[in-house]
Amino acid sequence: MKDLLKLKSSLVEEIENILNTQVKVEAHSSAIYLAMSAWCDDQGLDNASKFFAKQSDEEREHMLKIFNYISNRGGKPISPEVTNIPNDFESFRGVFEQALEQEMFVTEQFNNIADKCVKAKDYVTFNFLQWFLAEQVEEEFVIRRILELFDVIGEDGTGRWEIDKHLVKVVFDGE
Ligand code: FEO
Repeated sequence: MKDLLKLKSSLVEEIENILNTQVKVEAHSSAIYLAMSAWCDDQGLDNASKFFAKQSDEEREHMLKIFNYISNRGGKPISPEVTNIPNDFESFRGVFEQALEQEMFVTEQFNNIADKCVKAKDYVTFNFLQWFLAEQVEEEFVIRRILELFDVIGEDGTGRWEIDKHLVKVVFDGE
């Protein structure tokens, strides 16, 4: 008689756990970006506020993609508790620096998950991860380009509002 639990789920426990950890990381990203959106709005930086609101929505979508994948593979997705979200930030530039740090951390997380999938011979999940790995290239690129605006334009005088005006023009064309 085969183990019924194994028949129910195609995910090994280690992969299910690390995916659930990533669900939490994505929820955390979503909450941080929402806080950043509110801070930018309070500073009169409308485009930056919209940028982070959109990022926040996308992170929730990422979270749901992983959450649903765990479920579809017969695992048990866990709705995450999100705590320790800062609501105040030191500077406009600091917000984007923190966002880049967060995205670099997320990229590292996905690399680790991919590594574990290969070791566990879970190529189905490895394949599922490819979308996220490609997405990270775009997310890091856009934030780095926005940070370059701070170097080129500077924050003095009307600089902050110039940066806010130009950041919407940053796009990733994949080349
Ligand atoms: Fe879902 Fe920005 O990584």
